[in-house]
Amino acid sequence: MRLFALILSCGAIARAATVDRPATFNKDVLPVLQKNCQSCHRPGEVAPMSFLTYQESRPWAKAMKAAVLSHKMPPWFADAKYGHFQNERRLSEADTKALVSWADNGAPEGDAKDKPAPIAFVQGWNIKPDVTIEMPNAFEVPASGIIEYQYIVIPTHFDKDVWVTAAEVRPGNRAVMHHVIVYVRPPGSTYLKDAKPGIPFVPVTYERDANGAAIRRAPQAAPQTAQQTPPAAPKASGDAPRPQAGASMAGIELLTAFAPGLQEQRFDSPIAGAAKFVPAGSDLVFQLHYTTNGKPATDQTKIGLTLATSPPKYRYFTSNATQQGFEIPPNDPNYESRSAVAMKEPAQLVWLMPHMHVRGKDFLYQAVYPTGESETLLSVPKYDFNWQLGYEEIKPVMLPKGTRIECTAHHDNSANNPANPNPNVTVRWGDQTWEEMMMGWFAVVVDANLKPQDVIGRVAPQRPAL
Ligand code: HEC
Repeated sequence: MRLFALILSCGAIARAATVDRPATFNKDVLPVLQKNCQSCHRPGEVAPMSFLTYQESRPWAKAMKAAVLSHKMPPWFADAKYGHFQNERRLSEADTKALVSWADNGAPEGDAKDKPAPIAFVQGWNIKPDVTIEMPNAFEVPASGIIEYQYIVIPTHFDKDVWVTAAEVRPGNRAVMHHVIVYVRPPGSTYLKDAKPGIPFVPVTYERDANGAAIRRAPQAAPQTAQQTPPAAPKASGDAPRPQAGASMAGIELLTAFAPGLQEQRFDSPIAGAAKFVPAGSDLVFQLHYTTNGKPATDQTKIGLTLATSPPKYRYFTSNATQQGFEIPPNDPNYESRSAVAMKEPAQLVWLMPHMHVRGKDFLYQAVYPTGESETLLSVPKYDFNWQLGYEEIKPVMLPKGTRIECTAHHDNSANNPANPNPNVTVRWGDQTWEEMMMGWFAVVVDANLKPQDVIGRVAPQRPAL
């Protein structure tokens, strides 16, 4: 009985600590916002409202409570059972409680002396670029209509080879910018050879039906890593790859990208001494996806790079396991596609980024080791096209020679998918959001003198057991 009473009173004391003193903004909430929210919720960043001050945050107290309890915010989609990611965005229970208690108690400001010092964000840039490269002219975005992807070739004028340790894209006008992808085009490449430097270029113009779907299907210049060997075509399987315009993208590498949820990329983390290689005389190719929003606008996007001061020990490069050969039938709620690559040399996996469009449902990366053992690297059980998140490994995953990366994705082309613009059509690979993609982007770090094509081989997918 005495023991029982003791337990009861301990419970009462523990509760008193959280309930008796309602959370205040200055003491309990601001530190949580600084650590978990202000990277996006500040002027000039991706979120529509700023949470830097009490005045800005106060009207959002109830919405914050709802957003964190439903796990809508902060945006994070990896199943916690697999992988350990250094950019993980997950609120601790204590942090969640602080926001909830604050909202439930009238969102008080609290004592000014409890306020932590503001975080010193670098104005605009999150990196301190050594070099910035900007579109030479602003792009005029009309008030309405579909804008095909714009490609702009911009010479770097680098007169010697360069090793990039971090990269960040700064869109000129976020209101009309859906995403930006920046590729490195080495000298001698024939990719987009007809494009005049500095002038927006549309490599393929589609005729579109009333739903906006492309009618004439031309081969796509899909981003493939350098000189990948064509896939060993699996016979009589849904995975048969269609002919790709990959040859013209030989040697083209993704440098970095901007999209909601993607911020600066640091190539020297988690492996110090790693960097991305940009050969002398390369051009950058900006792929820009503008969306119209009812008002004419202009955009002039730029990229910032930090450079290694001496040749690095390791090369960081980005590649992908992609499947373009799918045909998603009308109303199919769970269409599976698979893709795979194999390591021709040992590599250390450091980054993963699944990419699909609005019918994307889930995405799984597995490593199958030469021993036959397999491991789930990343599982995104509820993919959300509104967020393009890169998942940065805390510790690199060692991929011995012969390891395969196998990706399995599902698309939901049914009417139950609220993002589905039309469940009654067959959906194939294409750039626009109502067309689909299945890309398992990833980055590995290898010895500095290896080339991507020495390391990555495209192979037929064989889904391992879970
Ligand atoms: C990676 C960037 C990012 C981070 C980190 C982030 N947000 Fe957001 N947040 C957004 C964007 C973009 C929107 C608007 C689009 C949307 O609602 O999805 C948003 C919307 C919201 C909304 C409005 C939701 C609604 O239903 O209208 C709330 C509330 C919110 N965020 C709270 C938070 C809180 C609290 C945190 C930290 C615990 C946080 N956010 C972290 C980007 C972010």
